[in-house]
Amino acid sequence: MHDASARHNAAARTGIWFVGARGSVASTATVGLAAIADGQSPPTGCVTAREPFASAGLPGFADLVVGGHDISVVTMTKRAECLVETGMLPPRLFAATHDALERTDAEVRPGYDPHAAGPDGADGASQQAVAERLAADITSFQERHDLARVVVVDLSSTEPPVEPVPEHDDPEALLAALADPARAVLPASSVSAYAAILAGAAYAAFTPSAGMGLPALARLAQERGIPVAGQDGKTGQTWLRTVLAPAFAARGLKVLSWSGTNLLGGGDGATLADPDAVRSKLATKSRGLTALTGSDTTPLHIDNVPDLGDIKVAWDHVHVEGFLGSRITLQTTWSAHDSMLAAPLVLDLVRLLALAHAAGIRGTIPELGFFFKDPWDSDVHDAAAQAVVLEEWVRRTSAQVRP
Ligand SMILES: NC(=O)c1ccc[n+]([C@@H]2O[C@H](COP(=O)([O-])OP(=O)(O)OC[C@H]3O[C@@H](n4cnc5c(N)ncnc54)[C@H](O)[C@@H]3O)[C@@H](O)[C@H]2O)c1
Repeated sequence: MHDASARHNAAARTGIWFVGARGSVASTATVGLAAIADGQSPPTGCVTAREPFASAGLPGFADLVVGGHDISVVTMTKRAECLVETGMLPPRLFAATHDALERTDAEVRPGYDPHAAGPDGADGASQQAVAERLAADITSFQERHDLARVVVVDLSSTEPPVEPVPEHDDPEALLAALADPARAVLPASSVSAYAAILAGAAYAAFTPSAGMGLPALARLAQERGIPVAGQDGKTGQTWLRTVLAPAFAARGLKVLSWSGTNLLGGGDGATLADPDAVRSKLATKSRGLTALTGSDTTPLHIDNVPDLGDIKVAWDHVHVEGFLGSRITLQTTWSAHDSMLAAPLVLDLVRLLALAHAAGIRGTIPELGFFFKDPWDSDVHDAAAQAVVLEEWVRRTSAQVRP
């Protein structure tokens, strides 16, 4: 068991628990972490590798240990091999991190699939019992690896928006409903979020799924002292939009419309081909631009193009009104391997939530909004303003744990 004094030491060994551990982003983050920790690759793209984060006493890359849940039987190693074949992961790094991937995959436990038959399915255990099983996996991982803390990151497939029920707003009613085996009151992402609370783990929602975003769970996280951040990683097109939109506003120019099209393949592309699941993504993607341009000027399309694999192509057409009603057009083409954008930010979030946990921060951290399309408890979407807020937060919080 780890030393109790490690509780306040942000730099102590930290566990990462990926929900969706065998997916593209989680596998890429695991390869990247192993490569960085081993000196095979510099931490390019990690925000926390630069100042003021680098000297904030965060856990080192070599002090992070990965485990997780998934409902897929395709191993992380196999997933990473596919990412090599699509041209995303360098073969050299795959070879160098192969053993680390195998070790990490051995730490992956079966997740909660409400649609599958079996003990967790509709006619099986209560969601309370499922969450306790998931939480036990996390605490046993923590003990096995002598970790000061664990940060759970939701990287699982995007779920459709939830149908609200009164229990989502009331912690006591929620706990009562969870104990009833005849009811499945939470989507899988929120059962995992509840498991993080039961395990005393910090939590980040990198997806647009409900997760910890239901008011009753957010309250429970706060009451039980869990630091939480979300939601939906702001990695490419949305990040660029929240860089550009404030610039138009600062020049007194009026955005008339901001139309976008996304093409992507891979697991995420396949998931978002479902008209229900894509509604969650469209909602989080539109939030920032609507806030920054002052109106809903953002028609947006997401299409699954399987042969693109993990490459995301995003086209934006921005139509702007200038002096004396003149018209300005900006068109952008963004093309990148989506998981390569997401993975370093996931590692950043883990390191920052480790600091928050060590500092005893409870509940949602709006200052981590920099990382998200739809930041919880924050109206700040401007990427530059978010960067300033984040830096101030890290200085302040780091001073708290290292007086
Ligand atoms: N740039 C990015 O890549 C980016 C940006 C923002 C958000 N996201 C979000 O991150 C998530 C992961 O993206 P990806 O490309 O890795 O997707 P992916 O399809 O490759 O991986 C998702 C993984 O989740 C697993 N899973 C599904 N349901 C589960 C459950 N109930 N419990 C545990 N595991 C479960 C799947 O088996 C799969 O291995 C998606 O929700 C995506 O929208 C990605």
